[in-house]
Amino acid sequence: MPQTHDTVLVLDFGAQYSQLIARRVRDLGVYSTIVPFTTKAEAIKSVHPVGLILSGGPASVDEEGAPHPDPEIFKLGIPILGICYGLQVMTWTLGGHVASARKKEYGLAGLHITDAGSRLLAGVSQGSQIWMSHGDSVDRMADGFRITADTPNCPYTVIENDERHFYGVQFHPEVVHTREGNRMLENFVIGICHAKNDWNMGNFVDDAVAQIRQQVGGKQVLLGLSGGVDSSVCAVLIHKAIGDQLVCVFVNNGLLRKGEAEQVQKVFRDHYQMRFVYADAENDFLTALKGVSDPETKRHIIGKVFVDTFYKTARQCGDISFLAQGTLYPDVIESRSPSGGPSSTIKSHHNVGGLPKDLKWQLLEPLKELFKDEVRQLGRELGLPEEMVDRHPFPGPGLGVRCIGEITKERLDTLREVDAIFIEEIRKAGLYGKIWQALADLLPVKSVGVQGDHRTYREVCTLRAVTSEDAMTADWFRFPPEVLARCANRICNEVSGVNRVLYDITSKPPGTIEWE
Ligand code: XMP
Repeated sequence: MPQTHDTVLVLDFGAQYSQLIARRVRDLGVYSTIVPFTTKAEAIKSVHPVGLILSGGPASVDEEGAPHPDPEIFKLGIPILGICYGLQVMTWTLGGHVASARKKEYGLAGLHITDAGSRLLAGVSQGSQIWMSHGDSVDRMADGFRITADTPNCPYTVIENDERHFYGVQFHPEVVHTREGNRMLENFVIGICHAKNDWNMGNFVDDAVAQIRQQVGGKQVLLGLSGGVDSSVCAVLIHKAIGDQLVCVFVNNGLLRKGEAEQVQKVFRDHYQMRFVYADAENDFLTALKGVSDPETKRHIIGKVFVDTFYKTARQCGDISFLAQGTLYPDVIESRSPSGGPSSTIKSHHNVGGLPKDLKWQLLEPLKELFKDEVRQLGRELGLPEEMVDRHPFPGPGLGVRCIGEITKERLDTLREVDAIFIEEIRKAGLYGKIWQALADLLPVKSVGVQGDHRTYREVCTLRAVTSEDAMTADWFRFPPEVLARCANRICNEVSGVNRVLYDITSKPPGTIEWE
């Protein structure tokens, strides 16, 4: 975003870790953004970055179609750090040589520092653990470089050219398995690039408010508020900038969690006093879903009724010029990638839906530079209640994809009770923040039980909690058994429609996080 902050650009050569590099740099208080490797030197120069980081990538430098940067970037006088493929492509471009893989090196290694005068490794301990993942290796450096660290399998593990401020590492300093990776990035960003570390969410608020005012002028903005972190933060930020020029539409689809609709109204209408339109569409959704059990059909129906309700409501909101969305930086990067990201092909997501053709709204996306953890931080800066800021993700189709089989009001009410007990017990045990997402599903299966002297025949529910970095992969959360025991006990005693509780121990893959 702002030219008022020092910026480190990450040139993306297709690594799965490019986002992580930018995040680590931002953790140092320095703004960082990712640009395609094809970005021309002139364009790079025009944003005045204080440093460039060349990311890793899966290619070999000399294969056909391998990604190469504009060679002019090495003449800009800007410090450059090459990571893995970034190191190799820098070496190759500057006249060194890269040997193709005889054997792939993958996993942990100990860093053997050979030059105590290394600027990149200042303060890093001898033998420090690093994480390698490469096939090709440099076998001749370009002129002007020296080796400052090696490993038994890789003579050119860290190379440096202090005169030109070019540095290269064969391993990945951005991943946690490289123990002192943050120190190395800090040495580059702060020590070598002399970046000012003044990027934080406090400053972001002022910049963003000014930018929203400038973009919107005196016009009206509409925001679909779900109560999730992104749209909530978006609402408060925009409201701070333009007050009553913002109108929020909240659609109650009847598929929300217990107390959710009330909480959203309390916070946004009562506390922040925003212009708030509550569309109660529970009946429309439940009528459209009647008798439907197929997961994809449910998703399509929920998506369609949402879009119809949202735009019908929006048309009653007066003269709207902008549609605000809580798009985040990873969405922007993902939609730029040729595949569009793997998740989009597995289940259909319907949060936004296409704009009806007769509406000529412009998009306002004030969070599109931010990572999720920055959005949470921003929410705290803006005074949102902690239980909204630290919320687990919740899917757009809500309990509709957790109420397996036919969706009825009664079954949804049962599921809401189960979910509320599960989440309450997780919070009480102090585990909420350790879990990426916790969810309950109601199964269309009945089992026999006994309660007091009575035989029962009721539905089964499953509990699921996972840890994850980005929802692409996930592992099941290892609860202390007594927490699960309390949940099962309370659910069977307090929820009349359920008499059996299962815990889901499937990872993703092969399972997805949601059941449907
Ligand atoms: P899956 O089930 O595909 O989910 O492993 C990955 C993440 O996406 C969430 N999810 C959705 N989020 N609209 C959303 O906003 C949707 O339609 C949707 N479906 C799944 C899911 O909760 C998990 O965080």
